[in-house]
Amino acid sequence: MDIVAQASGLTRYYEIGGGIGGGHRTLKALDGAGFTLHAGKTLAVVGESGCGKSTLARLITLIEPPTAGQLTLDGVDVASADREAIRRLRRTVQIVFQDPYGSLNPRKKIGTILEEPLVINTDRDAEARRAAALEMLDRVGLRREHYNRYPHMFSGGQRQRIAIARALMLRPKLVVADEPVSALDVSIQAQVLNLLMELQEEFNLAYLFISHGLSVVEHISNEVMVMYLGRTVEQGPKEEVFSNPRHPYTKALLASTPFVDPARRAERVVLKGELPSPLDPPGGCAFHKRCPIAKARCASERPELARHDSVDVACHAVES
Ligand SMILES: Nc1ncnc2c1ncn2[C@@H]1O[C@H](COP(=O)(O)OP(=O)(O)O)[C@@H](O)[C@H]1O
Ligand SMILES: [Mg+2]
Repeated sequence: MDIVAQASGLTRYYEIGGGIGGGHRTLKALDGAGFTLHAGKTLAVVGESGCGKSTLARLITLIEPPTAGQLTLDGVDVASADREAIRRLRRTVQIVFQDPYGSLNPRKKIGTILEEPLVINTDRDAEARRAAALEMLDRVGLRREHYNRYPHMFSGGQRQRIAIARALMLRPKLVVADEPVSALDVSIQAQVLNLLMELQEEFNLAYLFISHGLSVVEHISNEVMVMYLGRTVEQGPKEEVFSNPRHPYTKALLASTPFVDPARRAERVVLKGELPSPLDPPGGCAFHKRCPIAKARCASERPELARHDSVDVACHAVES
């Protein structure tokens, strides 16, 4: 099958200056993420605020370079790609941001917003660009007369449809969606998720779909990566992660997920304590201070990801 993106050991550190004594500190925003993403499939990346999800999104969309690790997009190793190859990849990988209000220029009409990627990246004439924009409005469930309107005339859900339309204008292979429905009313979320799934089918798109909660990703994902303080704690097929969560953090996330079906409600795991600062994560397993089953070993020795059946888990308490 067609591999659209592949990453291993993807890492991004930030040097934070101006500390006490003027020293620098290293914030490990992302510390070794890896995955393989096929055309037409969705990898969901889930975890609390600050765990490194948007950092991963910025690396995959070439907004920032990684500190370390390997990234291949559409068969091209990003680290050794020349400028022309990177230019092509920037068209192949597109992003949809969380905030439907901040991501569209308020002074530009929808038609202009949709055509901009074509102006910059193609030599299509005005008539062809207009036709493409109108057709895309149809595909994302908007109307052709919206072409001449400004972003403020739309609801949050409609704006997210516009942002999705803009992301698809260059026919990308991979769309990184960074909490695309988090800012929307719950009643609107399902509509936008359904649209994303229809478009995935139509264009054979790969999605890297970011969410802070698990409920949103249950229907859209094929694989799930659960992150905690910059590191992957559990990663595997959606069915496995939802029906048989292995890491105590995944269990806690699932337990706090509002499922309608009582059979889907997981055993109750309540997290104690607060999310530690990523600038000063606990030693050993970064989760151990909040973990209900932590042992002495967890405070001193960091668990590496290890395969259990089809799932990778980083936890000393999980036996194969
Ligand atoms: N440019 C930056 N400089 C310094 N720290 C950053 C920068 N971007 C993100 N961080 C930090 O990296 C961590 C992960 O952030 P982020 O990837 O935005 O998490 P998430 O999207 O999961 O909420 C956070 O502690 C955040 O403050
Ligand atoms: Mg984020």
